[in-house]
Amino acid sequence: MNDFNLLIINWYRQNKRNLPWRLTKDPYKIWLSEIILQQTKVDQGLNYYVKFCNNYPTIQDLANAEEQQVLTDWQGLGYYSRARNLHTTAKTILNTYNGTFPNTYDNILKLKGVGSYTAAAISSFAFDLPHAVVDGNVYRVLSRLYDLDTPIDSSEGIKQFNYLANELLNKKHPAEHNQAIMEFGALQCTPTNPNCTSCPLAQTCLAQKKGTISQRPVKKSKTKVRNRYLHFLHIETEDQIIITQRTEKDIWQNMFQFPLIEKTSLEELSLVQAEIERTYNIKISDVKSNIKHILSHQHLYTTFWKTNTIPEKIRSDKAYFIIPKEALTSYPIPRVIDRYLEEN
Ligand code: ADE
Repeated sequence: MNDFNLLIINWYRQNKRNLPWRLTKDPYKIWLSEIILQQTKVDQGLNYYVKFCNNYPTIQDLANAEEQQVLTDWQGLGYYSRARNLHTTAKTILNTYNGTFPNTYDNILKLKGVGSYTAAAISSFAFDLPHAVVDGNVYRVLSRLYDLDTPIDSSEGIKQFNYLANELLNKKHPAEHNQAIMEFGALQCTPTNPNCTSCPLAQTCLAQKKGTISQRPVKKSKTKVRNRYLHFLHIETEDQIIITQRTEKDIWQNMFQFPLIEKTSLEELSLVQAEIERTYNIKISDVKSNIKHILSHQHLYTTFWKTNTIPEKIRSDKAYFIIPKEALTSYPIPRVIDRYLEEN
């Protein structure tokens, strides 16, 4: 054990949050928590973790569930490929591994939806295998501690940080060490306003010494963001509503949504309205525009066009479903639509 190991574990024992997935060694539950936490904050992920543990207590329960039910339970978390991979992987484990979660790093890494971070997390937390986790927290902590300016999104940076994280790994307590360094990044060595005045590593932190804390870690490229302009038709009669299932292989694959017209640019609303009214031979009664929804690689600008008549074009097209309004909650729908419905 080196000083870093001692300091970080001591800090962790005094400051850690009480999180349910840290109380189990069940690889299934740990995998579940890690998939939920991949793009979701702990506060938001907690309820979903509890819900999935209750609804699917074993990997068999998850494997045997209907995909639509899994997506409905996932609703609100976004990035739905995670839920689809979760379901696919549960079936793989049932069929290929007889329902027993694989217990080596290499086999865990082969699972769909599991990358090197998640494989290291499951191997160490569930099986105490000596694999260091390298997530955003770890990049930040190590780049500051050693004042490293290699971009974390370059292949050299990935190699360097991975090597360093494994060199520093506490081989006697890999599970606790990995939890500790991530928790330290999440609570103490935060992206903005890190708490350096009460930091147990401040004495040895090179970025602190050189005044480069706010410049670490270094990233070479900004994530490219695609703007999308989505116009949804909210067709609602006294007791019915219209939905359709998405087939595109994208973030919302297989989910249900309102009929959609997608534009490549921001267009004058009056022109879009005229186009919709002409195409569908309907009158729009209300519009809610420019509801912005930010995803990691996409900014969605959504407009909801409301009407109370079901266009003939849609009534006669099998791709659209006319369902009772109350039934809507049993369909997985994207968060943008869910939010609009909550507010309108
Ligand atoms: N984020 C990802 N994995 C986590 C974990 N095990 N504990 C807290 N936050 C996390």
